[in-house]
This record gives sequence, C-alpha cells and structure tokens, in this order.
Amino acid sequence: MNTATEPTGDLGLPAYPAARSARCPLDLPAEYAQWRLGDGLQKVRLWNGETAWVVTRHEDVKFVLSDQRISADTLRYPRMHPSAQQQVPAFPRMDDPEHARIRLMLTKDFTVKRMEAMRPQVRALVDRFLDEMTAEGDSADLVESFALPMPSLVISLLLGVPYEDHAFFQEHSVTINQPDVTPQDKGRASAELFGFLMELVRRKQREPGDDLISRLIAERVETGELKPEEVAMNGLVLLIAGHETTANMIGLGTLTLLEHPEQAAVVRDSDDPKVVAGAVEELLRYLSIAQDMIWRAAHEDLVIGGQEVKAGDIIAVNLPAANHDPSFMENAGVLDIGRNTRGHIAFGYGIHQCLGQNLARVELTEALPRLLRRLPGLRLAVPLEEVPFRGTMAAFGVHALPVTWWANPTT
Ligand code: HEM
Repeated sequence: MNTATEPTGDLGLPAYPAARSARCPLDLPAEYAQWRLGDGLQKVRLWNGETAWVVTRHEDVKFVLSDQRISADTLRYPRMHPSAQQQVPAFPRMDDPEHARIRLMLTKDFTVKRMEAMRPQVRALVDRFLDEMTAEGDSADLVESFALPMPSLVISLLLGVPYEDHAFFQEHSVTINQPDVTPQDKGRASAELFGFLMELVRRKQREPGDDLISRLIAERVETGELKPEEVAMNGLVLLIAGHETTANMIGLGTLTLLEHPEQAAVVRDSDDPKVVAGAVEELLRYLSIAQDMIWRAAHEDLVIGGQEVKAGDIIAVNLPAANHDPSFMENAGVLDIGRNTRGHIAFGYGIHQCLGQNLARVELTEALPRLLRRLPGLRLAVPLEEVPFRGTMAAFGVHALPVTWWANPTT
C-alpha cells in the first residue's frame, strides 16, 4: 500500500482534466489506462492549482460512490471552490439523510412508468424538431436544431419552466458546468439562474399549473416540508441536469454512430425496441459523457484501492476510465451495440445515481433511431477534425455538429 500523501506544491503532477487526442477525440486520454495500474489512484493538479486524487478503476469508483466516509458535499472544502457560495444547498451536494429527504420527494416523478407514459409526447417533440430542421434545407447544426432544443423543451414542460427562456438557462448551464470558468463567474451564473427559478416559484404560488414545480409547492411547501427557496433549488438542479447531459448524449451519440455505419444501420433498421435500448446503453457506457462531473471529498482518513487518502482530500471520480476498465469489460475501447453492458456506471452509482436516467433513456431511444430513419443519408458536413468537441468540459459532447443529408445525384 502506498501511504505517502504526495508532497504539496509538486509541480510535476499531471494536469486534470487530461486532454483527448485531437486525431481520435472519441478515445479516452491515454493517461487513464496508465492511472488504472498500480494503486489505481492518481494524484493530479486541477485547473485552480489544487490537487486531487483521480479514481479510475471500476471497483474503486463503486467503492467511492457508496462509502459513507466519502462525502458529496465538496462545497465544505474551500480549496475546491475558493469563493463558491450557495444560497440554498442543492441535494446532489448533500449526504444522507438530508439528501434522501429531498430526493425521495422527487423520485415518483421520474419512475420508469411515469417516463414511459411520456414516450408519445417525447416522440412527437422529436418529430416536431426534425420536421422544422428538414424544412429549412438539407444541412444543419444538429446540436442547435435538434440535440439541445428537444431535451430542453421536455424538461421545461415537465418542470413548468417557460420554454421562451431557454437561451437564458442554456447559456447559464454552460457557464456553471465549465471547469475553467472562475468561481466568481460560476457563482454569478448560478445566482442569476436561482433568481429566475425563485421568480418562477413565486409566480406558481399565485398561478399553479400542471407541472412538477407546482406540485412541489402544493404538496410540500404548503405542508411546511420545503421552503420556496428549496423548490427553486430543486428546479434549478433538474433544469440543468435535465437538458445538457441528454443534449450531449444525442449529439455525441449521433456522431459516434455516423463513425460506425454498420452499427448505425442496425439502430436505423431494427424494429426491436430491445436492440435500440441495448445500443443506447452501449453508447452511454462507451461515451460516458459525465467525464468530469463527479467530485467527492474524504471526511476521514481511509484507503481507496491501495492508496491512503487523507481527510479533506478531494476525489475526482472518473466514470469514462471506470467504464473502460478491462477488468470490468473486455475490449472496452470498442463500440459494440450488441454487447451486454450490465453494470456500466454512466449514470453513476450509489445514492446519487442519476435521478433522470429513465427520462434520458426514453429521450435517447426515441431521438437516435428516429433521426437515422428520417434521414438515411445523414452524414457529417465537415471532416471529423473540424468538429468542435467539448474536450475538458464537465459533460463531454460537441459544441456543434454540422451535418447534411442531401441525396448525392451520382449515387
Ligand atoms: C445525477 C449522468 C440525464 C438529473 C447524475 C449522475 C450522473 C448523471 C453520472 C451522478 C452524479 C454524482 O454521483 O455526483 C447523466 C447522464 C444523462 C443524465 C449521462 C443523460 C444521458 C439526466 C436527466 C435528468 C438528470 C434527463 C433530469 C431530469 C439528475 C439529478 C442527479 C443526477 C437530479 C443528482 C441525483 C442525486 O444526487 O441524488 N446524472 N444524467 N439527469 N442526474 Fe443525471
């Protein structure tokens, strides 16, 4: 076991997040395979000059995400967020029992049954955005025309957020999730977004609608279980989590399928929902877009893998490395939509496992096959090297995806 916590101030540590190769941006940074060896934990230097441990092995990641000596409340550690302040705590950054108290008020809105009941509505929205996109010509930025607006509208409808405000919440979400934005700018963006949600809660207290925020007000605020500020914070969490990740998965999932045409053909031509569902799970595992979203802090001294970690140390949970761990999955670096992906942790693990995963699955199993069926000639409109990737952002994806579907008269 390695008991030495590395000396502080050591400039030789690798920078984190690590860069992906410009030539093969879908491949994980080469360092991850190396970091999985030995004790499995790697000490790194963060964008703010601080150090953290990166956990890369599948078993170790599950351990970190389920051990009660490790906390999701990283805001308690000023070295991680030097000037971050949060007016109202958000439940993804709480530990149980506080976390469970809030989460349990929301789970019934995201069950498989509730989300499957939304499938026809999601399908209609997918078709609506595809109709609008194809009516405008035979090429588009798929992110702007489809991947981003579809999940934004779905989560807006579910929460009761006016979709007219989508540009505002999309821009602020990007700022909040970008690793190299200053804590001051992140704080400002999240305060503005919180103000917007607070205003919405006040409006819904006067004029309730048929939506999640109105239900929380009626069922929990009026009983004294939640304060209006807590409803606004839950709305903010769901709004951010509910549109950006799925949007990135649609953009990057489409790109990945275009890079694997035989597998894209299976998704397009299959009328078996299980085949499409299996393909979506493999894309989730293979891409593991929550690349730098998950941070924890050790509350006590403990050993992870073979490495001693001290109380107060920051831990970066690297889901892509874990989902590509050869001891979890053979040939993990290869996309194989027919494989058994059981045990993948693209939605996290333990008490904070993604609350919206059933919604994300409905959106992805509708969006990807319908896009490929409606536009069988879909292809990139630029060389892969010109696609702007979200390399070091918390959620991996593409900023834009220029595509075309015009029929080539010579073929
Ligand atoms: C948590 C991934 C879509 C809401 C998480 C976590 C991951 C994740 C990895 C765990 C975070 C942690 O342990 O710290 C994804 C991916 C998505 C997706 C890959 C799309 C493909 C959604 C959607 C919603 C949502 C559509 C909302 C409706 C949440 C919430 C949490 C969460 C509220 C925090 C849960 C908690 O702390 O108890 N997500 N997510 N996610 N996700 Fe998702």
